[in-house]
Amino acid sequence: MSKIESILTESRVFNASEQLKKRVALTESDIAQLYAKAGKDHVGFWSDLAREKLAWSKPFTIGLDDSNAPHFKWFSDGKLNASYNCIDRHLETKSDKLAIIFEADDGKVVRYTYKELHDQVCRFANTLVAQGIQKGDRVVIYMPMIPQAVIAMQACARIGAIHSVVFGGFSAESLRDRIDDTGAKLVITANAGRRGGKIIPLKKAVDDALEKGGDHVRKVIVFRRTNDDVAMKAGRDIDWYEAEAGMSNYHDPVMVDSEHPLFLLYTSGSTGKPKGVQHSTGGYLLNAHVTNEWMFDLSEQDVFWCTADVGWITGHTYVTYGPLSVGATILMFEGVPTYPDAGRFWQICQDHGVTIFYTAPTAIRALMKFGSELPSQYDLSKLRILGTVGEPINPEAWIWYYHEIGGGRCPIIDTWWQTETGAHMLAPFPVTPLKPGSCAKALPGIDAAIVNESGQALEANEGGLLVIKKPWPSMIRTVWGDDARYQKTYFPMMDTIKDGASCYVVGDSAYQDEDGYFWILGRVDDVLNVSGHRLGTMEIESALVSHPKVAEAAVVGRPDEIKGEAISAFVVLNVDIPTEDSEQASLVQELRTWVAKEIGAIAKPDDIRFGTNLPKTRSGKIMRRLLKTLARGEEIVQDTSTLEDPSVLEQFK
Ligand code: WTA
Repeated sequence: MSKIESILTESRVFNASEQLKKRVALTESDIAQLYAKAGKDHVGFWSDLAREKLAWSKPFTIGLDDSNAPHFKWFSDGKLNASYNCIDRHLETKSDKLAIIFEADDGKVVRYTYKELHDQVCRFANTLVAQGIQKGDRVVIYMPMIPQAVIAMQACARIGAIHSVVFGGFSAESLRDRIDDTGAKLVITANAGRRGGKIIPLKKAVDDALEKGGDHVRKVIVFRRTNDDVAMKAGRDIDWYEAEAGMSNYHDPVMVDSEHPLFLLYTSGSTGKPKGVQHSTGGYLLNAHVTNEWMFDLSEQDVFWCTADVGWITGHTYVTYGPLSVGATILMFEGVPTYPDAGRFWQICQDHGVTIFYTAPTAIRALMKFGSELPSQYDLSKLRILGTVGEPINPEAWIWYYHEIGGGRCPIIDTWWQTETGAHMLAPFPVTPLKPGSCAKALPGIDAAIVNESGQALEANEGGLLVIKKPWPSMIRTVWGDDARYQKTYFPMMDTIKDGASCYVVGDSAYQDEDGYFWILGRVDDVLNVSGHRLGTMEIESALVSHPKVAEAAVVGRPDEIKGEAISAFVVLNVDIPTEDSEQASLVQELRTWVAKEIGAIAKPDDIRFGTNLPKTRSGKIMRRLLKTLARGEEIVQDTSTLEDPSVLEQFK
C-alpha cells in the first residue's frame, strides 16, 4: 500500500514541446486514427499493418484464427522469413548503410553495413546447414554481447531453425536445463567474453553443461573472442571460422509459415523450472517492427542503442529483430556501464551520435549515484528519445533521466511488456503527455484492462490484475513442451468467465488512473525482479536446497534502491547453526557462491538468515508475507495465530 500512496502523490505531467511534435513521424491525429481503426476492427487493423510493414513471400488471407482458443494463429496461411525482413529487403536501397556499430569492452569499434551483415549471416547460415541443422531444429546460443550473437540468431532465422539464447551470465546448471528442455542439436558459444576489463569464460560452462546432459547436442561452434586457450572436444567442437571456411556469402532464405516458431526464450515462473516461451515468426516480427516505429519514432536516420543483452527478450525485440526490420542502425556494447568509469554510457552516446537510448531503471539509478557531473562532460545533444523497461521507474530516477540525460527535450518512453508479450504493450508515444512512473496507455490494438479475480472490470484507481482481453500478433504461442502450463498460467479464467479463453492474465498487479494511465504495482506471484530481470523464488530456493548443508529455504524480495529488489534468503540447515559470527559469515559466503554457480551471479542472495524452521501455517504453507516483513526489517503486525511455531520468527529477526 505504501507503494500505491507514494506513486499517487506524483501528479506532474510533462507535455511534448512543439519542436518535438514537429519532428516525429506520428502526430497526435495519426495516433488517434490508429486507435480508432484498431477499436473498430481489431483483426483488420493488425492484418493491414502486417501487409504494409512486412515482406511476405506468400501473402496471407487469414488474419486471426481463434478457433482453438487459447491458442491463436495470426496470418497463418502466409509465408515469410524473419532474416529476409531484417536484412535482404533493405539491400536494394541501403546496402552501404550501417546496420551495426559495435563498441567492445576495450573501446575498439567494429562496423557492419547491411551488405556486410547480409554476407556474414549468409555464411553462417550455410555453416549451420553444413553442420546438419535444418528447419525446426533447435540451436542454443550462449554468447557474450558481440555482433556474432546477432549473426547467429539471424542465421538460425534464415534457415528456419529455432534459436534459444541463454544469457551468458547463467551458470552451467541453468544452461544444461535449458539445453535439455529444447532438445537442441547444436550449441553456439564463445571461448570467453570481456566485461569491465575482465575475461569471462563461457565455453567451460558449455563443457560442464554437456558433461551431464545434452545427449542430443552433436556439435558446438566456438567463436574465439579472446586469445585465451580453449579446450576443444574432438568430433564435437568446431572453431567458428574453421566451420565457415569455404562457405558462400549467399544463402536463399527458407520461407516459413507465419506461425513457425522463430525462437524459444526461457523465463521464470512462480513454480517449477523456467518456461520456454515460444514465439512465432510473422506475428512476433510485426509487433517488433511497429513498436520500434511507434514508441521510439525509429527511422533510417537513427542510431538506436538498446543496452539489453541478447539473452533477454529486450535484446531480441529491440536489438536483433525490430530495429533491423525497420532498417535502422543499432549500437551494440560488450561491456558494463561503469568501466573504465561511470561515464561510459554517455561517452558511447556522444561518440556514436546515439539518437535513441533504451535502458533499465536499475542502470539509471546506479548511474544517478555518480551525480550529474559525469554526463554533463559529454555532448548528449543528439539524443532525442529515451526509453526504460524492466520494472517501474521511480519518479526521482525519471526526473534525473529526463533532465540530466535528455536535457529536458527527450520524452521518456516507459515501456511495459514481458517475455511472453514479445513487444511493448503499455507505453506512451513520443508526443503523449507523460506522468513520471506511469507507462501511459495500452497501444493501439492492445486491449488491456484491470480486473478482479472473477474477471470483473475495476474502477479508476482500484488496484487489480492486469489482463489483455484480446489476442495480439506477438503473443506467446505456448510453453515449449508443456502446453498445459501455458493454459494454466496465462488463461486461468478460461473455464470460469465468458471469453476467459482469450483473456491473457499478465501476472502483474496495476491500476488505471482517472486519465486511463496505467501504473504497475508489481508481480502478483512469487517472482522477483532483480535489476530488471525476472527470477523465480522457486529456482533460487531449489538451488539453496541442493547444497548438502541446507534442508529448507525460502526466498523473498525486499526493496532495494539500486536493484529494484534485493534477494533475502531464509535457510534451515540440516547441521547445527554455527554459533560463531565468523563461521556463520563463511557459511553465508559459501551458500552465495553456491547459488551463483547453480544459477548465475544475478541470483546470489543479498542476505541469508538461519533458523530451525520456516514460518509455516498448520497446513504447511510457508508464510511469505511474514518473511517479506522480516526481510524489510519491519515489525510484524500481521496475524501470526495461524503459525505452526511462532517462535521461529524471533530467530530470523
Ligand atoms: C516488469 C521484460 C513496470 C513486469 C521486458 C513484467 C515492468 C516483467 C516494466 C516482465 C515497466 C517490465 N514498468 N514493470 N515499464 N517492464 N516490467 O519477461 O513485472 O523479463 O511482468 O520482460 O517485468 O519481465 P520480462
